[in-house]
Amino acid sequence: MTLELKVHPLFFKEFATKTWISPYEIIRELIENAFDEDATRVIVTVLNNGNVVIEDDAGMNSDSVTKFLILGSPHKANENLSPKLKRIRTGRYGTGRLSFLTSFDNMKIKTNLDDFNKTLVINGEALENLITGQAQLQELKESTLKRNGTEIFLNVSKITIDLVKLTKELKKLSILKYPLFEVYVKYSENFKEWDLTDSQIVKSPDVQGYKILVNIYNPSISGEIIIAKRPLGQDEKGIAIMVGNHVVLRSTFGFDNKLNRVTGYVKCDQLTSRFADKSALIENDIYTKFNQQMRDFVIEQVLPSLTEYEDVLITREESKIYKEIDKVMGQA
Ligand SMILES: Nc1ncnc2c1ncn2[C@@H]1O[C@H](COP(=O)(O)OP(=O)(O)OP(=O)(O)O)[C@@H](O)[C@H]1O
Ligand SMILES: [Mg+2]
Repeated sequence: MTLELKVHPLFFKEFATKTWISPYEIIRELIENAFDEDATRVIVTVLNNGNVVIEDDAGMNSDSVTKFLILGSPHKANENLSPKLKRIRTGRYGTGRLSFLTSFDNMKIKTNLDDFNKTLVINGEALENLITGQAQLQELKESTLKRNGTEIFLNVSKITIDLVKLTKELKKLSILKYPLFEVYVKYSENFKEWDLTDSQIVKSPDVQGYKILVNIYNPSISGEIIIAKRPLGQDEKGIAIMVGNHVVLRSTFGFDNKLNRVTGYVKCDQLTSRFADKSALIENDIYTKFNQQMRDFVIEQVLPSLTEYEDVLITREESKIYKEIDKVMGQA
């Protein structure tokens, strides 16, 4: 008996269908990909048959398509800035685009950059063929896009997509705060290329309040923590931990009940996010140091500011009430 480690033909398909959890997460991944390539606008169209189209204005040349075809390529780890606008990229592991298989049967990619264009389809069967080392994809001869950009069709949806929930989930994207980057969503009977009719722009929620800048060394952590004026929604509570421009999770660093009014983000590129879905942190030595530094920061800076800020808010509220009482008494 030879001792040989092998890969089961279903391994890649299982990985792609059981790693990401929802179509909303998939759409976020694909929007982040467009951001990473310097797109300035993304349009997400939900069709009435449940299919979804994600369009951007970046586009791929022959080199980019080659990158697109290599699964697990970690090139963004080295090329961590986008080519033109030098944005800090969100991608890390070269697997995000496979997420489509969680909620859709296949993905058609149509792209155009200057005089280069390509239309191809990826499905689960192609992933099963990967075991042989050769997974031929179907190339389609279709009319090319009328602009530089990419159009991704997510076909044969396995789940109903709710537009309200989609908008809510897309608001979690930290990249919405970037200049020169807009995301639109719309619902449509039929798909029409690059058409903003009846679409709505997705804006990240504005949180007013007291801002505390974070600038820590070893590990290097930067960010902005906000003590919010208004009560925060469930998705806004806690401090977002970012690796690159991707929000991994929100945390209160063990101060659960005390940080109900606290939001914002901290960025630490030395942390390692979990492979593929990037929705958890690997608990290594940097992670331990990071947590310690953040806990100290919360104790030294956030909690005192919180008490101070709450006092100011309460005093303002109180003085408003006293003024009201004075007015009423004056009229009596
Ligand atoms: N909309 C797009 N426009 C241009 N190139 C793209 C686009 N989407 C994907 N690519 C190319 O395909 C590659 C694979 O994307 P994918 O999301 O799978 O991996 P990644 O973004 O590199 O890393 P991660 O898995 O962490 O998201 C990208 O690195 C990029 O080179
Ligand atoms: Mg990606």
